Amino acid sequence: MTAFKLGLLLLVMNFVHSELITNETAAREFANEVNAGSEVVMYNFVAASWNYNTNITTENQQAMVDESLKLALFDQAVEANASRYDWKNFSDTDLNRLFSKLVDIGTAAMTDKVKLERLNNIMSEMEAIYSTGKVCLTENNCLPLDPDLSRLMATSTDYDELLTVWKGWRDATGAKIKDLYKEFVSLSNEAIVQNGYPDTGAYWKSWYDTPTFEEDLKTLFETLKPLYVNLHAYTRKKLKERYGADKFPTSGHIPAHILGNMWAQTWGNLFDLLEPYPGKDDIDVTPQMVQQNYTAEKMFQVSDEFFKSLGLIEMPSEFWDHSMLKKPTDGRDVVCHASAWDFYNKKDFRVKQCTDITMEDLITVHHEMGHIEYYLQYKDQHVVYRDGANPGFHEAVGDVISLSVQTPTHLQKIGLLPEVTNDEEAEINFLMKMALQKIAFLPFGYLIDQWRWSVFSGETTPDNYNQKWWDLRCGLQGISPPEDRTEDDFDPGAKFHIPGNTPYIRYFVSFVIQFQFHKSLCQAAGQNVPLHQCDIYQSTAAGQKLSEMLKLGSSKPWPEAMMMIAGEDKMNAAALMEYFQPLTTWLIEQNDVYKLVFAESNP
Ligand SMILES: *[C@@H]1O[C@H](CO)[C@@H](O)[C@H](O)[C@H]1NC(C)=O
Ligand SMILES: *[C@@H]1O[C@H](CO)[C@@H](O)[C@H](O)[C@H]1NC(C)=O
Ligand SMILES: *[C@@H]1O[C@H](CO)[C@@H](O)[C@H](O)[C@H]1NC(C)=O
Ligand SMILES: *[C@@H]1O[C@H](CO)[C@@H](O)[C@H](O)[C@H]1NC(C)=O
Ligand SMILES: *[C@@H]1O[C@H](CO)[C@@H](O)[C@H](O)[C@H]1NC(C)=O
Ligand SMILES: [Zn+2]
Repeated sequence: MTAFKLGLLLLVMNFVHSELITNETAAREFANEVNAGSEVVMYNFVAASWNYNTNITTENQQAMVDESLKLALFDQAVEANASRYDWKNFSDTDLNRLFSKLVDIGTAAMTDKVKLERLNNIMSEMEAIYSTGKVCLTENNCLPLDPDLSRLMATSTDYDELLTVWKGWRDATGAKIKDLYKEFVSLSNEAIVQNGYPDTGAYWKSWYDTPTFEEDLKTLFETLKPLYVNLHAYTRKKLKERYGADKFPTSGHIPAHILGNMWAQTWGNLFDLLEPYPGKDDIDVTPQMVQQNYTAEKMFQVSDEFFKSLGLIEMPSEFWDHSMLKKPTDGRDVVCHASAWDFYNKKDFRVKQCTDITMEDLITVHHEMGHIEYYLQYKDQHVVYRDGANPGFHEAVGDVISLSVQTPTHLQKIGLLPEVTNDEEAEINFLMKMALQKIAFLPFGYLIDQWRWSVFSGETTPDNYNQKWWDLRCGLQGISPPEDRTEDDFDPGAKFHIPGNTPYIRYFVSFVIQFQFHKSLCQAAGQNVPLHQCDIYQSTAAGQKLSEMLKLGSSKPWPEAMMMIAGEDKMNAAALMEYFQPLTTWLIEQNDVYKLVFAESNP
């Protein structure tokens, strides 16, 4: 035995024998010190990560990986120090919660530094492959996802052109990521086991701290499924008229590439085709935005103004100075996928978005601004509490705001809709537009992590990656691959959050709870109108209610935060169903008229 190992053994024995520290005043002091140190280490990591994400080079990748290793070593030291306290027995429940987060360090628990570095390198490489992916329509015409391929998927009605783009994107990204992903899964699991979880999926689920989480999700999904099935049947009928029934499988599925979106995750771009009563108000305000010379900055100002009107915190000057609101034109490669950044120094908050001048992106702008508002509201919390009550809460904030922003009366208020008609037909048109955003998304939001959890747990192995993916896509979304797929393809890898390693069930949770929030904020605002007509603009009462919840960060269990804002402590699909009730009735009538029963669909 070497002297070093002997020393280590003695140290370990020393720990075993030493008493755990029970002094809670000392524990609080320790936590405060950690907070100060953590802000610095986090800032350095986030700044390096920002540099890489806004300028993809090997140099910037190395700098980011270096900082992530420093952060991991810091987290390990914190975990070791915190473990010397008898924190599970603390009488101060807040201190107990704080310590439980200090020792929960995720993949940073990996003690083998070489492996930890490899894990971080794989993650940045996958992100780089995805973010620099291009599809060549001809030899000299190679297009990136943003804005070109996204626009093509949104606007083209040429079946074969859409297929070329759909397939090209998957060849350019997913297929090239599969081997890295395999290695990533194995390393990530190895790290997370050292933090005391069976696998990475189990770790992600632990953030919701709900023993019945998966059952709860399933119940919500089953409750909402009829809304989706109705929308699916109606959409399929209209798409058959456009492309010809011979392009559709007899199983009732819809080919995955003709829904106006690279992943068929939202269908808003089909609104022209699906508009129930054509010729009403033009509630897609993209043409208005273009006509009025909207810029990316203007879109963010519009959003900032809404938050201010609620009495919430406005964007600080650092936000406007340092954000990347447009795709750079200097030839730099960047990660275009929109995201919001907290630098943990209480003043630097940024958005990175390759903003396109469309209504779809205006909604994304509000989504990202919602994250920033949350960061601003909880910035004085301990670093480990600067987080959503659960991850779904974080995704819901901006979306709640845009539920108001998108109402025709609000769009008129901000000059984007010249005329507003208040009749039943206009109302159905509006709800259809919203359903293509919110209902179409539900199975997609639900299935991504069904896939990933099963991959992390080992139930789905690399030789089944793509098969499992399509089982879920076909079974839950009712869409089918437009041509045969094999295990050489890796279609999950063509969606940002897989190579970007961002958990996804948060979006499903958000799409449910944002309607609970909306309903409650509408009541606070004294709006006595149907839920889908409510606009909380300029209601400081609603703002106050929202802000009280946001300020908590993750310092309280999420059911308490939920109680505060929604008056109930559970996720509940009722508000979402209420919002869409008129459309649900209309769709059932339509599908009956067209004899489109679910039996044909079976998505
Ligand atoms: C507990 O820790 C505080 C702060 O370090 C110290 O002032 C106090 O004397 C300690 N109390 C006991 C009983 O040791
Ligand atoms: C991008 O990063 C490289 C370092 O790899 C640096 O030399 C260059 O100046 C950066 N470009 C911009 C626009 O920041
Ligand atoms: C952990 O404790 C050691 C020994 O007391 C101290 O030197 C170190 O700064 C602490 N590190 C952190 C991150 O708390
Ligand atoms: C809590 O304290 C009791 C005695 O007060 C002790 O027996 C027990 O081991 C402590 N629990 C933990 C988890 O340290
Ligand atoms: C938009 O820009 C065009 C061309 O610069 C200009 O003619 C037009 O007046 C502008 N429209 C508005 C609403 O500012
Ligand atoms: Zn988000």
